[in-house]
This record gives sequence, structure tokens and C-alpha cells, in this order.
Amino acid sequence: MSKKQDQGTNLLYRLIGEARTYDDVIVMGRGDPDFDTPAHIVAAAKEAMIHHHADHAPPEGLPALREAIAERVKRVNNIDVDPATEVVVTNGGQEALFLMVLAVIAPGDEMIVPEPNYNTYADSLAFAGGVKVEVQTWPNDAFRADPDLVRAAISERSRALLLVSPNNPAASVISPADTAELLDIASENDLMILSDEIYDLFVYDDFVHTSPAALPGGKERTLTLNALSKAYSMTGWRLGWIVGPADLMARVAELKAAISGGASVISQHAGIAALTGPQEPVEMMAEAYRKRRRLVLDALDAMGMKYGLPQGGQFVFADIGFTGLDSAEVAQRMLTEQHVLAYPGSAFSKDRKDYLRMTFLQPEDQLIEGLERMKTAMGSIMAGQ
Ligand SMILES: Cc1ncc(COP(=O)(O)O)c(C=O)c1O
Repeated sequence: MSKKQDQGTNLLYRLIGEARTYDDVIVMGRGDPDFDTPAHIVAAAKEAMIHHHADHAPPEGLPALREAIAERVKRVNNIDVDPATEVVVTNGGQEALFLMVLAVIAPGDEMIVPEPNYNTYADSLAFAGGVKVEVQTWPNDAFRADPDLVRAAISERSRALLLVSPNNPAASVISPADTAELLDIASENDLMILSDEIYDLFVYDDFVHTSPAALPGGKERTLTLNALSKAYSMTGWRLGWIVGPADLMARVAELKAAISGGASVISQHAGIAALTGPQEPVEMMAEAYRKRRRLVLDALDAMGMKYGLPQGGQFVFADIGFTGLDSAEVAQRMLTEQHVLAYPGSAFSKDRKDYLRMTFLQPEDQLIEGLERMKTAMGSIMAGQ
């Protein structure tokens, strides 16, 4: 296997492939919620299959769903958008992020990316012919995207700033003050902000999620991404969105039409039910993640492992530098010897060979067992076995 084939997303898919071959595997790697999609959403999809399956869906999405999205981003994020011209429905967050990058980045343009970050941004940037300019973030600073470092990374080719908050994999949340300062920097340097807010409903302790598009002067230079995958446990339904200023959204809609046309009408009707129906299931899931996060952090504390405190999202990015091994090797040994899958930090960033990303997207008994197996694997690594 070539080196490139065993890096980033490819490395993750190889590990997932091996994990599938074990009957008793505990998957603490993948970022997909473990809950069933709430019943009223499934019922709306069934109804749509019978009555709406052949509806014409415009590439930018069904009007009723765009209205529900506009209402949601106003209610949750305080972003004002016109559903007719400033909302595009996508095939999940994954397509949304490709569309955002393709709409904004021309060959040679630079995008400033706080690292570590969700690895598909690097892939989409490569497709667009853009250049990634990394700004490093570290656990001793709670993986803060330091505005001074962002300012220092700007060049004449800078076109956009990526903000993923809460972050995957670092689980950091950009504070209201930093969001305002980063927006000022973007305005002073005429940068677009690509704001990935897919984890915005999962924020812990006293941390606060802020949408740059909600701040004065923010909307006209921000594309905001979200999806139903995480909040409603709808990963496989493939439904997400981008909202932003009408001129850029026209470009996004054009790309969406060319790449895949409208999203599945069945999923879109389910999406309307998700956004306009009862929100208690989301609160119930958020509460479960809160409890599981505590459980994982207590177990890591007991093992003496260091990590950046997860301020939001569904992950812990833990420091395994004490093993002296590359995270890909540690993840491989944990998987092959103990049948527990965590993701190597090196899959997210070449400079994060000392980290493992773990999720709390498993029932508590599985998490406890997974952490126990991880401890055993670490024990044998440290004993030089
Ligand atoms: C930060 C971030 N953005 C986008 C996505 C893609 O989301 P989706 O599963 O809706 O395609 C993910 C998925 O894990 C993510 O973590």
C-alpha cells in the first residue's frame, strides 16, 4: 500500500474495514450517533414515500424545508436569511462542505485552517486547487484558534478562514469574544468565513456557541454549514444545508444543481418533520452525551491520560505521546489486539501523531468496556509487549 493510500481519510476507512471483521468490536472512532432516528421523523419519511416520492425537488431544496431551515437558524443561531434565495439543502454536511469550498476557493487561493480539523476540508480544498494555511491549536490552550496567529497567517492570496466550532476532532468551542475578533480580522482583510456549526447543539459546561453570521457585518461574508446527521441522529439520511448571502448562495445552488441536483425528497420531508416537530429527542440525546462525556473524562483521568477538555461536540482528543509511538500504530494495536477502534490523530493532521480521537457515541456499557480494553492495550504497549 502506498503511503498516501494509508493516510487521512484512507487510513480511517482501512481501520473501519478491519473493525467490521470483528464480531465483538467496540467502535469509539466513528462520529455517527448511535441513537435511532426519532420515530416521528421516520413516520414522515414513510408518509413521503407513499405520497411525495415523485415530487419535483428543486436543486436548492423543497421550499417548506428551506423555510424550516431559515426559522431554525434564526431561532438557534440568530442568523437572518431569506429562505427563497439564501438557503441551499445538501446531501449531508459532507456535500455542504465541498460546495462551500468550491463556491469560494479558486485555484491558488489560500484558506486559513485552525488545526487539527475535520479531514475532509483538506480533501475539498485539494479538489478546488486551493492551498491550506495551517494555524496550530494545542490542548494546553483548550485548542483555541488564537486570533493573533490567524492574523499572522494572512497573505495576499488569503481568501477564506475556516471555523469549525464546536470542533472535530479537538472539541473546542470558539468563544464569543474570539468569534468577534476573527470576524474583524476577516472584514479587515476581505476574507470569507466558512463556518461549520454541525455540532452547535452540543456545548458543555458554561461554553457558548456563537455564529459569526449573527454578528454585525458577519452575514455578508459568512457561509454557515449545518446538517441533521448529528443533532437528530440522521447520518444515513444525508441532509444538510448552507445559508449565506444571496450572491454567493446563487453560486452554491448552481454547483449543487450541477453536482447532484436536489436531495432525496423522502429525506427532505423527514427533515421538515425534524426541524418543525418536537425537539425533546434532541435534548434527550444531548443529555446522554453530557453524561457519557463525564464518564470518558473520568476514565481518562484515572488512566492519567491528558486531553484537551471537550467544550462541545462529541469527541475527546487525547494525548498518547507517552507511548512514544505514532498514533496510527497505537490505533492499529488497540484494534487488532483489543478490538477497540479509536481514530489516530495523524489521520486529521500530520502534526498530530501523538493523539487519539475517541467519541462518546456509544451506550455507557460499551464505553466502559471500550475504555477498559484501551487501558489493557496501553498497558501492553508500555510494557513493551
Ligand atoms: C465538522 C464536520 N463537518 C461536516 C461533517 C459531515 O457531516 P455529514 O455526516 O452530515 O455528512 C462532519 C461529520 O462527521 C463533521 O464532523
